Amino acid sequence: MRAPLVFIETFGCQMNEYDTELVRTILKGRGYGFTDSADTADVVLLNTCAIRENAHNKVHGHLGALKPLKEEKGLVIGVLGCMAQNLKRDLLDGHSLIDVLVGPDGYRSLPELLDKAAAGRKGMAVDLSEYETYADITPDRVKGVTAWIAVMRGCDNFCTFCVVPYTRGRERSRDFDGVVREAEALAASGCKQVTLLGQNVNSYRDGTRDFADLLLAVAEVRGIERIRFISPHPKDFPDKLLEAVASHPRICKHIHLPLQAGNDRILQLMDRTYTRAEYLALVERIRMRCPDIVLTTDIIAGFCSETDAEFQDTEEVIKQGEYHSAYIFKYSERKNTIAARKYADDVSDSVKSVRVTQLVELQRAISQKKNREMIGKTVEILVEGDGKRSPDQWMGRTDGNIVTVFPKRGQAGFLSSEKLPVPLSDPIKPGSLASVRITDATVTTLYAESV
Ligand code: 5AD
Ligand code: SF4
Repeated sequence: MRAPLVFIETFGCQMNEYDTELVRTILKGRGYGFTDSADTADVVLLNTCAIRENAHNKVHGHLGALKPLKEEKGLVIGVLGCMAQNLKRDLLDGHSLIDVLVGPDGYRSLPELLDKAAAGRKGMAVDLSEYETYADITPDRVKGVTAWIAVMRGCDNFCTFCVVPYTRGRERSRDFDGVVREAEALAASGCKQVTLLGQNVNSYRDGTRDFADLLLAVAEVRGIERIRFISPHPKDFPDKLLEAVASHPRICKHIHLPLQAGNDRILQLMDRTYTRAEYLALVERIRMRCPDIVLTTDIIAGFCSETDAEFQDTEEVIKQGEYHSAYIFKYSERKNTIAARKYADDVSDSVKSVRVTQLVELQRAISQKKNREMIGKTVEILVEGDGKRSPDQWMGRTDGNIVTVFPKRGQAGFLSSEKLPVPLSDPIKPGSLASVRITDATVTTLYAESV
C-alpha cells in the first residue's frame, strides 16, 4: 500500500510557517508522504490563523472548495492552528467537512487523529500546554538560504484586541543550547540567514540567559551571515539588546517595533503598557545608538471608541517614527478577547476603511522617500533567488530587510585583450552576499547594479 499523501496549506504568520514544518516532521516519521495539491492528496490540512476576521473567511472559503473532493474520494480534512484552537467544538460540530481539529500545542497527536479519521471517527486535540516547545523536533524545511527558528511560544501580554494568548497559550521559552544547535545544523546545510521568532522575544529566558545572549550566541554560529528577530514589545527593549543590534556585524539593523496606536487613551484601552511619549523615546534611543536602523511597525486603525482626533495622533507618530514600512490593519473584533468582552466595536467599517487608506497613503509616501534616500549608496545584499519579474535578475534583501533586485551577469562581456565578447560566468548564486549600488527605488523595492 502506498503512503498516504498529505497537502498542507498554511495561512497567517511566520510562526504558522514554522509549525507547518514541525507537522511535516511529525507526519514523515509516521510514514506519510506529501503532495503539493489537494487533487492528489488523501489528507488536506489547513494550518489556520485567527488574528483577524479576513483570516477566518479565507479558511472557510478554502474548506468550501474542498467539498467536491471530500464527496468524491473521501478526503480527510484537518484544521490546525489558531482558528482550530479558538473555535474548538463549534468548528467541528458546525462543519461536516472537518474530520480533525488540532490546536498549536497538539501536533504530536495528529498521526493518531488522522488514523482514527481514516476509520471514520472525528477527533480533536485542543488542550493548551504550559511546556510544549517541540524542542526535540527538527522542522522539515525546504532547504534554502533563509530559515526561521521559534525560540518561544505563546504570549502573556493579553493586549485587549489580541487572540494570540488564547490560541497559543502561555509564554514558554525553548532551551538556549537547543536553539544554538539548530542554527549550527542549519548553517551546515547551507542556510545563511536565521530569523529568531517569538511573540515577544524580550520575554525569552533560559535560566539566567536572556534574548540578547541568545541572539549573540546564534550570531557566533559559523556560516550564518545574518541574524534577524521578530518581534520585540516596545514595553521592554533592554540596552543590552540594542547594543547587540548596533554593534554585531551579523545581527541585522532592522527592528520591527509594533506601535498599534499613537494615542494614549487608545494605547491604554489596548493595554499596551506604554505611552506615546515612552514609545517615541524608545525610537529616539534606538536611532541615537544605531543611526542606520531600519524601523518597521504594525498599526491597528479604528479600535473601539477611537475618535478622529485620536486617530490623528497615530498619523503624527507615523510621521515622527519615519518607518521604512508598516503593516496597517483594520481593527477586527476577536471572540474571547478582553476588548470583545469589555468594549463596543463601535467605529463603523467605513470609517475604519477610510482610516486604513489614509495611513497606507501616508506610509507609502514615507517608504518611497526613505527608499529613494538610498539611491547612490553601495550596500550588501543577501541573494535569495531569481527576481519575481525576470529570471535575468537576482532578488535579495539589504541588511535592513528591503527587497532589492539587480541584473544577473552572464550576458556577453569583454574579457580578453582582443576585445572578443566572451560569456562572463556570474559568480553570484543564492546565498551569496553581493555588493550592489542602488540606482532606483519604489515604495517597496530597491533596484541596483553589481559593483
Ligand atoms: N484586529 C486587527 N489587527 C490585529 N492585530 C492583532 N490583533 C488584531 C485585531 N484583533 C495585528 C496587530 C499585531 C499584528 C500581528 O496583527 O497589529 O501586531
Ligand atoms: Fe497579541 Fe499583544 Fe501578545 Fe503581540 S504582544 S501576540 S499583540 S497579546
